[in-house]
Amino acid sequence: MKKIVILISGGGSNMAAIVRAAQREGWRERHGAAVAAVISNRADAGGLAFAREHRIATEVLDHKQFASREAFDAELASVVDRHQPALVVLAGFMRILTAGFVQRYEGRLLNIHPSLLPAFPGLHTHRRAIEMGCRFSGATVHQVTAELDFGPILEQAVVPVLPDDTPESLAARVLTQEHLIYPRAIARLLATA
Ligand code: GAR
Repeated sequence: MKKIVILISGGGSNMAAIVRAAQREGWRERHGAAVAAVISNRADAGGLAFAREHRIATEVLDHKQFASREAFDAELASVVDRHQPALVVLAGFMRILTAGFVQRYEGRLLNIHPSLLPAFPGLHTHRRAIEMGCRFSGATVHQVTAELDFGPILEQAVVPVLPDDTPESLAARVLTQEHLIYPRAIARLLATA
């Protein structure tokens, strides 16, 4: 079984979209793959309840309990490794990962970012896209490399930026597309792996 481990920090709507796609599209039967665990760095992450309701193993690893980024990432890696995942999927995981962690999962570590990378890496993507006068924005699924919000692009979706958009209205339009492209990118990887 190809195990997928998903890392979240918040609402987990991308994680939920992946879990739903796996069920709907029969990833277990078609690809021999299943979401094995959802790990959050925050105990109050909304997505944890969804995962538990779907009988997916959950773990919480509070980064504030660790003295350094390296110490947190080392423990995170040992939690992830317990599942021996084929894919490690960052889905709204709002921690910068150390180069050591990234190297450990190189080639099987994915991220989704709410902009058309390489434009607007980092935070506040929607506000920045509106302030720059972008006519289009979107979302990107990419392989994770040591450089933040960089790495080979697997999928993108484009949405218009409307004249009266706020960061919130644009975020909602982009998020709808994220829910389509993240499962699609993962299914494609599973089909070719
Ligand atoms: C998503 O928009 C995702 O692209 C973004 O956080 C949101 C998480 O939503 N990720 C980043 O900004 C990473 N730099 P979700 O918890 O509902 O999936």
